[in-house]
Amino acid sequence: MVSNPEQKPIISPFLKWAGGKRWLVSQHPDLFPTMYKSYLEPFVGSGAVFFHMRPTNAILGDSNEELINTYATIKEDWCNLHKLLESHHRLHCKEFYYEIRAKTFENSVEKAARFIYLNRTCWNGLYRVNLKGSFNVPIGTKTKVVLDSDDFCAISNILKDTDLHASDYQTIVDSAQKDDFLFVDPPYTVKHNFNGFIKYNDKLFSWDDQIRLRNCIDNAVSRGVKVLLTNADHDSVRDLYKGIGEMTSRERLSTISGNVNARGRCSELIVKCYKS
Ligand SMILES: C[S@@+](CC[C@H](N)C(=O)[O-])C[C@H]1O[C@@H](n2cnc3c(N)ncnc32)[C@H](O)[C@@H]1O
Repeated sequence: MVSNPEQKPIISPFLKWAGGKRWLVSQHPDLFPTMYKSYLEPFVGSGAVFFHMRPTNAILGDSNEELINTYATIKEDWCNLHKLLESHHRLHCKEFYYEIRAKTFENSVEKAARFIYLNRTCWNGLYRVNLKGSFNVPIGTKTKVVLDSDDFCAISNILKDTDLHASDYQTIVDSAQKDDFLFVDPPYTVKHNFNGFIKYNDKLFSWDDQIRLRNCIDNAVSRGVKVLLTNADHDSVRDLYKGIGEMTSRERLSTISGNVNARGRCSELIVKCYKS
């Protein structure tokens, strides 16, 4: 069992991501366990919790293949990726943005550079693809492609002992063992109401996916896995997790909507299934 090391230099997520958990780690660091075996995160997104915990061995997954390719490229070849981002930075303009957006690359470094470039320069940093799986967000106002905070070398080191999976969450959740820490942050679908729904991929995260997830988590908790789950603070989700762990809610500023008027405070549900 490893303890969570304290006072490591701070590494921030390098992507802006809908539903990102920077706010959770900065406002509620006490929620996370201090002792655990392996770290597993099946909906990693921008990895705010992973970068906060900085585990020595981890399994990260997400159904977004381009996202996982980006992590894998930073892990294996961050230097070439950084060089290409510097080139994108010099070339950035409206024409270049739409040219890159329209392209499909085979090479993993070019693919990852496109992904980070679009994430940093698109409208509101929002990842969205159409039904054909093509990224379709217009250009935004931000022009910095290389950030002062970038430290791909450090991220590569953190990822050294990390397995990366572009897959549905179930395989990772089912592989968690006693005393592993499983952080679960799925897209927020609620029953009968898709207003708060976030579409990351060409596939919907349906209510059936939420039920399947709940069943896998129930099994994981029975195996002695330390599970922390976040989800929409909605009656249907509270009903779904009744009887599993300790349920509380936390307030956060909502920044997902491009419409400033739709922003405000909202509550998120936390289900915690361990003592420390
Ligand atoms: C709320 S976000 C996770 C945010 C992350 N905690 C962060 O700090 O950025 C949910 C993630 O689930 C992924 N996802 C959607 N459906 C999935 C599935 N069936 N299996 C695994 N990942 C999925 C999305 O691509 C998205 O990155």
